[in-house]
Amino acid sequence: MDKIRIRGGNKLNGTIQISGAKNAALPLMIASLLSDETLRLLNVPRLADVALLQRILGNHGVDCTIKGKRPGQPSMAGQTLDLCAEEIVDTTSPYELVSKMRASFWVIGPLLARMHEARVSLPGGCAIGTRPVDFFLDGLRALGAEIELDGGYVVAKAPNGLVGGTVTFPKVSVGATHVVMMAATLAKGTTHIENAAREPEVTDLADCLIAMGAKISGAGTETITIEGVEKLHGATHTVLPDRIETGTYAMAVAMTGGDVMLEGARPELLEAALDAIKASGTQVEPTNSGIRVSRNGGPIKAVSVTTEPYPGFPTDLQAQFMALMTRAEGNSDIVETIFENRFMHVQELARLGAQISLDGQKAMVEGVPQLTGAQVMATDLRASVSLVIGGLVADGETFVNRVYHLDRGFERLEEKLRNCGAEIERISV
Ligand code: EPZ
Repeated sequence: MDKIRIRGGNKLNGTIQISGAKNAALPLMIASLLSDETLRLLNVPRLADVALLQRILGNHGVDCTIKGKRPGQPSMAGQTLDLCAEEIVDTTSPYELVSKMRASFWVIGPLLARMHEARVSLPGGCAIGTRPVDFFLDGLRALGAEIELDGGYVVAKAPNGLVGGTVTFPKVSVGATHVVMMAATLAKGTTHIENAAREPEVTDLADCLIAMGAKISGAGTETITIEGVEKLHGATHTVLPDRIETGTYAMAVAMTGGDVMLEGARPELLEAALDAIKASGTQVEPTNSGIRVSRNGGPIKAVSVTTEPYPGFPTDLQAQFMALMTRAEGNSDIVETIFENRFMHVQELARLGAQISLDGQKAMVEGVPQLTGAQVMATDLRASVSLVIGGLVADGETFVNRVYHLDRGFERLEEKLRNCGAEIERISV
């Protein structure tokens, strides 16, 4: 199994190209199931989760083709994916595949809308909390689906097709918003989603569905209205830049000091996180081509944050911000309100010398003047990258184990950091 070795102490200086967003690319790929014509996605990141979803969609009969790199294209340019679900050959998504990636459960929406049936394995628990699917099932029931649970599978049927309805989510859910929105595009009549997720990835999916012929308004607000249409057609859509990757590298620069241009990043996608980074004493400057982040000298200031649905501070940047706060001057509180068990990185940051105590959903971080390299591992993607951020300033060598978590969501992480002067390499053991 590969690990990442980091020798801490170097500042980051240079340019990092921000990739397409994983959490936009995944639902966009799933949307291809809604049409028998080709959906072309540009700027798709090269990630393990994208490759796995290609396999899962392939199982349903989606033909996925990756276009080669064009001459003159920069090496970091995203890939172009053509997805054609001309014929859906199987409406079952088996446990072996769904258990590897929770987002693959989302195929239930398009399959049900287009084929009027779906049999999808329950995703099960995961390292960041229990993550149930009740909102999905209630949402699809509101569109007329009959749903049963059978041997660990959700069996959903709508023999005469889905019908529009009103879905009010008790709590904001990104995945359930994606699924109900996709399902409603082909339902008869109008659907209103209340308390919808406002995340930019939801808006990106809505934009793509609209390009495919769907009638959607209000994406990006709390109420989304979808007027069902008979059929969706092919389209070309560019995946939006990854706001979590952007925030992660911005926090890495805030941690090490230096001056890095995050090329292709869009500041309006992560204002709450950029505000927290600025408050910590780092300069954040939007430019024509991205965001410039710099910290030259000066201490890291302690800043408290609470995770919230968009536009609040994202849970997917909580671990990285905690890593930054381990070196702050003073104490900060980090409160997690989205997932009940997303503090797996606390024990591992402690191995680097961080001082963090936990009280339920609150982590209290007491900044220390120095971290020390150690062997660490993490159980999820964002937790793993927080350890990389810690390792970049730790004294001596840090080894981050279980690198496959990083490969699920960060494209060429070592290369991007190494190009900016970090001493980081992947080693096979
Ligand atoms: C998406 O997960 C992201 N995943 C997550 O990113 C992200 O952390 C999360 O949204 C929150 O922003 C993708 O986009 C692929 P939710 P999702 O449904 O949709 C509860 C990463 O690191 N809930 O918004 O699965 C749930 O348990 C990942 O890239 C129910 O109770 O998250 C959680 O507490 C990890 N019942 C809350 O809602 C349901 O039926 C929000 O979860 C559904 C959700």
